[in-house]
Amino acid sequence: MSATASGLVNPFREGLRTDRATVPCQLVIFGASGDLTGRKLLPAIYNLAQAELLPPAFSVVGFARNTMSDDDFRGRLKHAVATSGDVRIRDDAVLARLAERTHYVAGDFHDPAAYGALKDALAGLDAEYATGGNLIFYIATPASLFGDIVEQLHTAGLAHTEEGGRFVRIIVEKPFGRDFASAKTLNTALLKYLTEDQVYRIDHYLGKETVQNILVLRFANGIFEPIWNRRYVDHVQIIVAESLGIEGRGNFYEETGVVRDIIQNHALQLLSLVAMEPPTTFDARDFRDEKIRVIEAIRPIAPADVAATCVRGQYGPGFVDGESVAGYRQEPNVAADSITPTYAAFRFVVDNWRWADVPFYVRSGKRMPKRLTEIAIQFKRAPHLPFRKSQVDELSGNVLALRIQPDEGITLKFGAKVPGPSMRIRSVNMDFGYGATFGREDASPYERLILDCMKGDQTLFDRADGVEAAWALIDPVLGAWQSDRAIAFPNYDAGTWGPDAADDLIRRDGRAWRKL
Ligand code: BG6
Repeated sequence: MSATASGLVNPFREGLRTDRATVPCQLVIFGASGDLTGRKLLPAIYNLAQAELLPPAFSVVGFARNTMSDDDFRGRLKHAVATSGDVRIRDDAVLARLAERTHYVAGDFHDPAAYGALKDALAGLDAEYATGGNLIFYIATPASLFGDIVEQLHTAGLAHTEEGGRFVRIIVEKPFGRDFASAKTLNTALLKYLTEDQVYRIDHYLGKETVQNILVLRFANGIFEPIWNRRYVDHVQIIVAESLGIEGRGNFYEETGVVRDIIQNHALQLLSLVAMEPPTTFDARDFRDEKIRVIEAIRPIAPADVAATCVRGQYGPGFVDGESVAGYRQEPNVAADSITPTYAAFRFVVDNWRWADVPFYVRSGKRMPKRLTEIAIQFKRAPHLPFRKSQVDELSGNVLALRIQPDEGITLKFGAKVPGPSMRIRSVNMDFGYGATFGREDASPYERLILDCMKGDQTLFDRADGVEAAWALIDPVLGAWQSDRAIAFPNYDAGTWGPDAADDLIRRDGRAWRKL
């Protein structure tokens, strides 16, 4: 492991791939006054500075409509660092150095003059900090603005990479479109002025250490791959549960819902990492080719099959962590008759040689009893038990559970003899915990992904065909649900694991959701 000047071990210098170096650049954040910038991006940039991972020649430029001075924006940076749970080590000297290099340009996203002003500011800062003209634009605005922003950048001469000269890269936030057609239009709009290797479509789940560890578990160990298939795996369960509600984001959530917010992106990323074939290398092309092949192999859900393979839910009032919480329809900016789903469960089937007939049950919801993201590989039972029924207290079959968050780790469940004179058997767990083993906090996914973009490494970002494939899969479900407004919502209480219909979905196959 490499050590930083401060003597701390640097977790980022290690990785799945050969590391590339960061080079001088300016990071321009569109939507700099927004929620994501304050909560995630500024703390991530500070953490990178603190870990001495930013290039020495670097500056941050915020761009948004709000009128703000450089100092106002620096104030936001300081506030973000002071309050964010993502910040691990607060160091005033690092913060002061980063603040000096932090600037702000106010302007309307549609106004060519604003881009002219931005261009002048960037040229001035480039001369001051010697950033080699290299630019990264992080577009943290609503998706409806992505196309316009890129067009304006192009018109202002800010969008093109120069052969042998500067690079320009664009990071775009999710949700990437709201259905297949809009994602395609968006890709066309971006790729009119940019090449695919300039576009970094972010899904922060891919930046999580534990998500990357799925790959290490599968491909750095010899014992799992031989049993990672339909001969040994009965089914897979993936859950992305949140105890939080919509956190005041009523306008956003009414337009989005759980399928667009979590299933189309985060949950399908998890599924594809579990189901993908081993890539030849971890280069962006090989890795993404294999990941996308999985999504393309998932059996399309015809409108007529939606009722049998997918369940939607919406929370009513209830209790979470002992506190009484409002139902979704009572949240601010939510329609009193809203049919936006806050819960969804899917039964996916990956139609390929490895996974034929192995269901992948995927569920996600807001206002669940706890926050938990987990992937459980349920193995088939032993073909024959040479024990009497009376000797088996409880034996639920082998499960390999990958806990993505919280309490990150891996558990293998297997049958063991209960100590004592007679033969009695029950399931026990063998546990690996990240915290206990590595004893340090994970970097936030945004750190890893911003750094990868600075290095020009697209492996952990989505490709145009990848997002489109995921939308193509999800679209018929969204369509069917939108046209059938007769659903009786709310259908689960806040603080419970979702609607009864979701239990029926898996029970029909003779299986049950894991007790979590
Ligand atoms: C975001 C969604 O992409 O992911 C949020 O927009 C959700 O609604 C969040 O809460 C969950 O991320 P994490 O990292 O907390 O699991």
